[in-house]
Amino acid sequence: MIEVKDLSAAYHENRSKKIVFEGVSFEVSSSVPLSVIGPSGCGKTTLLYLLSGLKKPEKGEILFRGEQLNGHRREIALVLQHYRLLPWKTVFQNASLGLRIRGFSKKEMKETVFPVLKELTIDHLLDRFPNQLSGGEKQRVAIARALALKPSLLLLDEPFSSLDALTREHLQNLILSICRQRELGLVHVTHSIEEAAFLGEKALVMNEGGYNLLSIDGTGMAERGPEYRQNDLFHQYCNLLRGYLKR
Ligand SMILES: Nc1ncnc2c1ncn2[C@@H]1O[C@H](COP(=O)(O)OP(=O)(O)OP(=O)(O)O)[C@@H](O)[C@H]1O
Ligand SMILES: [Mg+2]
Repeated sequence: MIEVKDLSAAYHENRSKKIVFEGVSFEVSSSVPLSVIGPSGCGKTTLLYLLSGLKKPEKGEILFRGEQLNGHRREIALVLQHYRLLPWKTVFQNASLGLRIRGFSKKEMKETVFPVLKELTIDHLLDRFPNQLSGGEKQRVAIARALALKPSLLLLDEPFSSLDALTREHLQNLILSICRQRELGLVHVTHSIEEAAFLGEKALVMNEGGYNLLSIDGTGMAERGPEYRQNDLFHQYCNLLRGYLKR
């Protein structure tokens, strides 16, 4: 679905150029989701901006379904690090924001957004405002806003940070089953080794000065469920990731 070749990213400030990362290559398909993990400042969010078409590469190319990615595509949905809900809009209005911008009628918005809110089990919170929601509920609204657009690739930036361990695992299970049902490609950024191992079939471990691409063989997405966290393979994979992060 997405093919990244020799990708470099940089920011230009006061006529100087700051390289964030260089020479990154990988592929993502709906059956091979990717986790991106690495220390703060290594360029994880920058990579998602590039994959969403919101930022241009310094070098290299990104192919989406075989075509060069030039600017934003509606099939690619990005959920940003701090979920950015509009405080003066309700859950329903926040979740349907993308559809409203695209000119959907109120009826169409309801028909599209209700099933997504139900899937994420927040359909009883329709008329609440963000300040009346827990962190986990806010994160689900941000994810609902992205899913309502029926994307084929979902980019999540630390979607479940600052949640308690069980809510976090519950949302990880939910995302995994949604991606599987909808055959949705997933690239997700995290600081958590367990989360990277659970959600990603492959992991891009970014470090200062380089990156490693790891993959776990033996458990396809199809078989993976909550019980995978108890599996030896899962623990081996966590240890492998830990080792690469320390390099
Ligand atoms: N708009 C910008 N202009 C200049 N430099 C930037 C800009 N945005 C990010 N940077 C720099 O680029 C580097 C990578 O930033 P990025 O946000 O991608 O890191 P990250 O890996 O997502 O970090 P974190 O884990 O803290 O979210 C950092 O050094 C950051 O200061
Ligand atoms: Mg970031």
